[in-house]
Amino acid sequence: MSSKLIIALDFPTAEQALQFVKPLSPEQCKLKVGFELYVAAGPDFVRRLVDQGFDVFLDLKFHDIPNTVASACRAAAKLGVWMMNVHAFGGEAMLLAAQDAVNTATHAPKLIAVTVLTSMDKNQLNSIGLNIDPAVQVQRLAQLTQRCGLDGIVCSAQEAKGLRQQLGQNFLLVTPGIRPLGTDKGDQSRVMTPEKAVLAGVSYMVVGRPITQAANAQKIIEQIYNC
Ligand code: C5P
Repeated sequence: MSSKLIIALDFPTAEQALQFVKPLSPEQCKLKVGFELYVAAGPDFVRRLVDQGFDVFLDLKFHDIPNTVASACRAAAKLGVWMMNVHAFGGEAMLLAAQDAVNTATHAPKLIAVTVLTSMDKNQLNSIGLNIDPAVQVQRLAQLTQRCGLDGIVCSAQEAKGLRQQLGQNFLLVTPGIRPLGTDKGDQSRVMTPEKAVLAGVSYMVVGRPITQAANAQKIIEQIYNC
Protein backbone atom coordinates (compact mmCIF):
# COMPACT_ATOMS: atom_id res chain seq x y z
CA MET A 1 0.00 0.00 0.00
CA SER A 2 1.33 3.43 -0.93
CA SER A 3 1.11 5.92 1.92
CA LYS A 4 -1.42 8.76 1.68
CA LEU A 5 0.55 10.69 4.28
CA ILE A 6 2.56 13.79 3.41
CA ILE A 7 4.41 15.19 6.42
CA ALA A 8 4.79 18.98 6.38
CA LEU A 9 8.42 19.65 7.31
CA ASP A 10 7.71 23.05 8.85
CA PHE A 11 11.10 23.50 10.53
CA PRO A 12 13.24 26.65 10.58
CA THR A 13 16.52 24.94 9.68
CA ALA A 14 17.80 22.06 7.55
CA GLU A 15 19.45 20.53 10.63
CA GLN A 16 16.18 20.31 12.56
CA ALA A 17 14.35 18.91 9.55
CA LEU A 18 17.04 16.28 8.87
CA GLN A 19 17.05 15.25 12.52
CA PHE A 20 13.30 14.69 12.30
CA VAL A 21 13.53 12.81 8.97
CA LYS A 22 16.30 10.43 10.15
CA PRO A 23 14.06 7.63 11.50
CA LEU A 24 11.51 7.92 8.66
CA SER A 25 11.36 5.74 5.57
CA PRO A 26 10.08 6.71 2.10
CA GLU A 27 7.52 3.87 2.28
CA GLN A 28 5.86 5.40 5.35
CA CYS A 29 5.33 8.92 4.10
CA LYS A 30 6.09 11.62 1.59
CA LEU A 31 7.61 14.95 2.68
CA LYS A 32 6.45 18.50 2.07
CA VAL A 33 8.91 21.39 1.90
CA GLY A 34 7.21 24.78 2.18
CA PHE A 35 8.32 28.41 2.20
CA GLU A 36 9.96 28.46 5.61
CA LEU A 37 12.29 25.54 5.06
CA TYR A 38 12.93 26.29 1.38
CA VAL A 39 13.96 29.86 2.11
CA ALA A 40 16.19 28.69 4.98
CA ALA A 41 17.69 25.58 3.44
CA GLY A 42 17.37 25.99 -0.35
CA PRO A 43 17.40 23.62 -3.31
CA ASP A 44 20.35 21.54 -2.04
CA PHE A 45 18.27 20.48 0.92
CA VAL A 46 15.43 19.39 -1.39
CA ARG A 47 17.89 17.39 -3.52
CA ARG A 48 19.19 15.72 -0.38
CA LEU A 49 15.72 14.46 0.55
CA VAL A 50 15.17 13.27 -3.03
CA ASP A 51 18.54 11.45 -2.93
CA GLN A 52 17.40 9.70 0.25
CA GLY A 53 14.53 8.24 -1.79
CA PHE A 54 11.71 10.43 -0.49
CA ASP A 55 8.85 11.69 -2.62
CA VAL A 56 9.05 15.44 -2.05
CA PHE A 57 6.13 17.83 -2.45
CA LEU A 58 7.60 21.29 -3.11
CA ASP A 59 4.88 23.58 -1.72
CA LEU A 60 5.91 26.98 -3.09
CA LYS A 61 2.51 27.94 -4.56
CA PHE A 62 3.82 29.81 -7.60
CA HIS A 63 1.63 32.74 -8.70
CA ASP A 64 3.01 35.16 -11.30
CA ILE A 65 2.82 35.87 -15.02
CA PRO A 66 2.73 32.69 -17.14
CA ASN A 67 6.32 32.90 -18.38
CA THR A 68 7.77 33.37 -14.89
CA VAL A 69 5.71 30.54 -13.41
CA ALA A 70 6.64 28.21 -16.27
CA SER A 71 10.35 28.95 -15.70
CA ALA A 72 9.99 28.33 -11.96
CA CYS A 73 8.22 25.03 -12.65
CA ARG A 74 10.99 23.94 -15.01
CA ALA A 75 13.62 24.75 -12.36
CA ALA A 76 11.66 22.90 -9.66
CA ALA A 77 11.20 19.84 -11.88
CA LYS A 78 15.00 19.64 -12.25
CA LEU A 79 15.26 19.12 -8.48
CA GLY A 80 13.57 15.74 -8.92
CA VAL A 81 10.55 16.57 -6.78
CA TRP A 82 7.51 14.29 -6.88
CA MET A 83 4.90 17.05 -6.76
CA MET A 84 4.69 20.84 -6.78
CA ASN A 85 2.00 23.49 -6.88
CA VAL A 86 0.80 26.81 -8.24
CA HIS A 87 -2.14 29.08 -7.36
CA ALA A 88 -5.23 28.50 -9.50
CA PHE A 89 -5.93 32.23 -8.99
CA GLY A 90 -3.15 32.81 -11.54
CA GLY A 91 -5.71 31.93 -14.22
CA GLU A 92 -5.93 29.74 -17.30
CA ALA A 93 -2.90 31.04 -19.22
CA MET A 94 -0.68 30.62 -16.17
CA LEU A 95 -1.96 27.11 -15.42
CA LEU A 96 -1.47 26.00 -19.03
CA ALA A 97 2.06 27.44 -19.13
CA ALA A 98 2.93 25.69 -15.86
CA GLN A 99 1.60 22.35 -17.12
CA ASP A 100 3.45 22.74 -20.44
CA ALA A 101 6.68 23.37 -18.56
CA VAL A 102 6.18 20.31 -16.41
CA ASN A 103 5.34 18.14 -19.44
CA THR A 104 8.71 18.91 -21.01
CA ALA A 105 10.68 17.89 -17.91
CA THR A 106 12.70 14.66 -18.01
CA HIS A 107 11.00 13.48 -14.81
CA ALA A 108 7.67 15.31 -14.83
CA PRO A 109 6.45 15.97 -11.29
CA LYS A 110 2.77 16.00 -10.48
CA LEU A 111 1.39 19.52 -10.68
CA ILE A 112 -1.50 20.61 -8.48
CA ALA A 113 -3.15 23.97 -7.82
CA VAL A 114 -4.19 25.72 -4.65
CA THR A 115 -7.82 26.81 -5.04
CA VAL A 116 -8.90 29.16 -2.22
CA LEU A 117 -6.61 29.34 0.80
CA THR A 118 -8.39 27.90 3.82
CA SER A 119 -7.60 31.14 5.63
CA MET A 120 -9.89 33.03 3.19
CA ASP A 121 -13.50 33.21 4.34
CA LYS A 122 -16.44 34.95 2.61
CA ASN A 123 -15.49 38.36 4.07
CA GLN A 124 -11.89 38.04 2.94
CA LEU A 125 -12.99 37.10 -0.59
CA ASN A 126 -15.35 40.07 -0.55
CA SER A 127 -12.53 42.40 0.45
CA ILE A 128 -10.64 41.49 -2.74
CA GLY A 129 -13.71 42.07 -4.88
CA LEU A 130 -15.05 38.52 -5.06
CA ASN A 131 -18.65 38.46 -3.90
CA ILE A 132 -18.87 34.68 -3.86
CA ASP A 133 -19.10 31.83 -1.41
CA PRO A 134 -15.65 30.25 -0.89
CA ALA A 135 -17.02 26.75 -1.62
CA VAL A 136 -18.36 27.91 -5.00
CA GLN A 137 -15.05 29.59 -5.81
CA VAL A 138 -13.20 26.39 -4.89
CA GLN A 139 -15.40 24.41 -7.33
CA ARG A 140 -14.86 26.94 -10.08
CA LEU A 141 -11.08 26.93 -9.67
CA ALA A 142 -11.00 23.13 -9.33
CA GLN A 143 -12.81 22.77 -12.66
CA LEU A 144 -10.49 25.29 -14.30
CA THR A 145 -7.48 23.38 -12.95
CA GLN A 146 -8.80 20.12 -14.35
CA ARG A 147 -9.56 21.68 -17.76
CA CYS A 148 -5.97 22.93 -17.93
CA GLY A 149 -4.70 19.36 -17.50
CA LEU A 150 -3.16 19.59 -14.03
CA ASP A 151 -3.14 16.52 -11.77
CA GLY A 152 -5.21 17.87 -8.90
CA ILE A 153 -5.81 20.50 -6.26
CA VAL A 154 -5.12 21.41 -2.67
CA CYS A 155 -8.43 21.68 -0.83
CA SER A 156 -10.02 21.25 2.56
CA ALA A 157 -10.97 17.67 3.48
CA GLN A 158 -14.44 19.01 4.21
CA GLU A 159 -14.85 19.83 0.52
CA ALA A 160 -13.39 16.53 -0.67
CA LYS A 161 -16.53 14.41 -0.93
CA GLY A 162 -18.38 16.77 -3.30
CA LEU A 163 -15.25 17.53 -5.31
CA ARG A 164 -14.47 13.83 -5.72
CA GLN A 165 -17.92 13.29 -7.21
CA GLN A 166 -17.58 16.23 -9.59
CA LEU A 167 -13.99 15.70 -10.67
CA GLY A 168 -13.74 11.92 -10.92
CA GLN A 169 -11.53 9.28 -9.35
CA ASN A 170 -8.22 10.21 -10.99
CA PHE A 171 -8.02 13.85 -9.93
CA LEU A 172 -5.77 14.34 -6.90
CA LEU A 173 -7.30 15.94 -3.80
CA VAL A 174 -4.53 16.94 -1.39
CA THR A 175 -5.81 18.09 1.98
CA PRO A 176 -4.20 19.87 4.93
CA GLY A 177 -6.11 20.50 8.18
CA ILE A 178 -5.94 16.83 9.21
CA ARG A 179 -6.08 16.13 12.92
CA PRO A 180 -5.99 12.61 14.40
CA LEU A 181 -8.38 12.29 17.37
CA GLY A 182 -6.87 13.72 20.53
CA THR A 183 -4.38 16.04 18.79
CA ASP A 184 -4.37 19.82 19.05
CA LYS A 185 -6.16 21.80 16.32
CA GLY A 186 -3.60 24.63 16.51
CA ASP A 187 -4.61 27.46 14.17
CA GLN A 188 -6.55 25.18 11.78
CA SER A 189 -10.30 25.73 12.04
CA ARG A 190 -11.96 23.26 9.64
CA VAL A 191 -10.25 20.02 10.60
CA MET A 192 -11.01 16.37 9.90
CA THR A 193 -9.64 13.08 11.22
CA PRO A 194 -7.55 10.95 8.83
CA GLU A 195 -10.16 8.17 8.90
CA LYS A 196 -12.94 10.53 7.80
CA ALA A 197 -10.72 12.18 5.21
CA VAL A 198 -9.97 8.81 3.58
CA LEU A 199 -13.70 8.03 3.51
CA ALA A 200 -14.33 11.43 1.91
CA GLY A 201 -12.04 10.39 -0.94
CA VAL A 202 -8.87 12.42 -0.37
CA SER A 203 -5.77 11.28 -2.26
CA TYR A 204 -3.13 12.57 0.13
CA MET A 205 -3.26 14.13 3.60
CA VAL A 206 -0.81 16.85 4.61
CA VAL A 207 -0.05 16.63 8.32
CA GLY A 208 2.40 18.86 10.13
CA ARG A 209 2.34 19.65 13.83
CA PRO A 210 0.35 16.61 15.02
CA ILE A 211 3.39 14.59 13.87
CA THR A 212 6.34 16.98 14.03
CA GLN A 213 5.49 18.06 17.58
CA ALA A 214 4.32 14.68 18.86
CA ALA A 215 6.10 12.94 21.73
CA ASN A 216 5.82 9.74 19.66
CA ALA A 217 5.76 10.68 15.97
CA GLN A 218 6.01 7.05 14.78
CA LYS A 219 2.79 6.15 16.59
CA ILE A 220 0.79 8.86 14.78
CA ILE A 221 2.45 8.03 11.45
CA GLU A 222 1.42 4.36 11.80
CA GLN A 223 -2.08 5.34 12.86
CA ILE A 224 -2.50 7.41 9.70
CA TYR A 225 -0.81 4.82 7.48
CA ASN A 226 -3.28 2.17 8.64
CA CYS A 227 -6.47 4.15 8.21
O1 C5P B 1 0.74 21.71 11.19
P1 C5P B 1 -0.38 21.51 10.21
O2 C5P B 1 -0.85 20.06 10.12
O3 C5P B 1 -1.52 22.46 10.43
O4 C5P B 1 0.30 21.85 8.80
C1 C5P B 1 -0.44 21.97 7.62
C2 C5P B 1 0.48 22.29 6.48
O5 C5P B 1 -0.31 22.47 5.31
C3 C5P B 1 1.28 23.58 6.66
O6 C5P B 1 2.54 23.38 6.04
C4 C5P B 1 0.48 24.61 5.93
O7 C5P B 1 1.27 25.63 5.39
C5 C5P B 1 -0.13 23.79 4.79
N1 C5P B 1 -1.38 24.31 4.25
C6 C5P B 1 -2.52 24.52 5.03
N2 C5P B 1 -3.67 25.05 4.47
C7 C5P B 1 -3.72 25.34 3.17
C8 C5P B 1 -2.59 25.13 2.36
C9 C5P B 1 -1.43 24.61 2.95
O8 C5P B 1 -2.51 24.24 6.22
N3 C5P B 1 -4.84 25.78 2.63
